[in-house]
Amino acid sequence: MTDFITLADCGRAQLTALIDASAAWKRARPHGPAAWLAGRHVAIVMEKASTRTRVSFEVAVRELGGHATILTSDGTQLGRGEPIEDTARVLSRFAHAIVFRTFGAERMMRMVGAASVPVVNALSDREHPCQIVADLLTIRERRGGLDGVKVAWIGDGNNMAVSWLHAAGALGLELRLACPVGYRPPPHDVSNAQDEGATVTVTDDPRVAAAGADVVMTDVWASMGQEAEQAQRARAFAGYCVDDALLAGAAPDAIVLHCLPAHRGEEISAAVLDGPRGAAVWDQAENRLHTAKAILELAMTGACRGP
Ligand code: CP
Ligand code: NVA
Repeated sequence: MTDFITLADCGRAQLTALIDASAAWKRARPHGPAAWLAGRHVAIVMEKASTRTRVSFEVAVRELGGHATILTSDGTQLGRGEPIEDTARVLSRFAHAIVFRTFGAERMMRMVGAASVPVVNALSDREHPCQIVADLLTIRERRGGLDGVKVAWIGDGNNMAVSWLHAAGALGLELRLACPVGYRPPPHDVSNAQDEGATVTVTDDPRVAAAGADVVMTDVWASMGQEAEQAQRARAFAGYCVDDALLAGAAPDAIVLHCLPAHRGEEISAAVLDGPRGAAVWDQAENRLHTAKAILELAMTGACRGP
């Protein structure tokens, strides 16, 4: 078993194996149960809202012959203040893996530290590694490969941006981040990615980041837990909308990605999201299912062999 917490721990070989296995699960669907999950149980613990992550992991577990139990803060003792460590110890007696979405990274590490079964990071304030595996699969499907792809990130230097930096480091990608000053990703994540061989630039001009880009990505301006900052963030991110004007400077066949949920008219225009350039977003969402299977196999068996 191995915890799946951060792409910073994934080298090129492991990340490529995850994408390959995800693609294989996608091709194999509908498929039968997997010996490593059949009859076993996965606890999906959500301290924040979720649609895609929750349902994709639940469906992945069921399609592989396992049973998923979903816990949210409402209705569990975790939500009433039971320590994460006690929750981790007890869930480890019932379930064979824990998929955990939480707030601070320290809460994730408390779950990892006390659980005796593998833990999958289903998003924390710091990282969203599962989503980025689906993003990479989507880009590979659309462009035929990842080598030489120019990726632009427009908006907040948030959990998505940090996991993208980790992936860029692992795969040696070109990643241009356009983030307002004060909303940039942690400098050590940028420098680590550069040290690993990624070509990373950080600018406050979305047009500079998007110029000639093959992939233009964005995410909400206020992530879960930052709702009180919405108005202040809307002011800081003015001019950061991924719209037709911004995409005019991107590669002519550029695709747009958004992990969803999206706020049309804020970080992305309705015309882009609902138009041909946004079409990959729905593949990106579907790919959460296929990548969840590969991630579960890696976490529960230590390798991702696929179907
Ligand atoms: N992209 C993503 O993680 O979506 P959910 O918040 O709906 O799980
Ligand atoms: N950055 C967003 C991602 C949602 C999937 C958040 O953390 O809310």
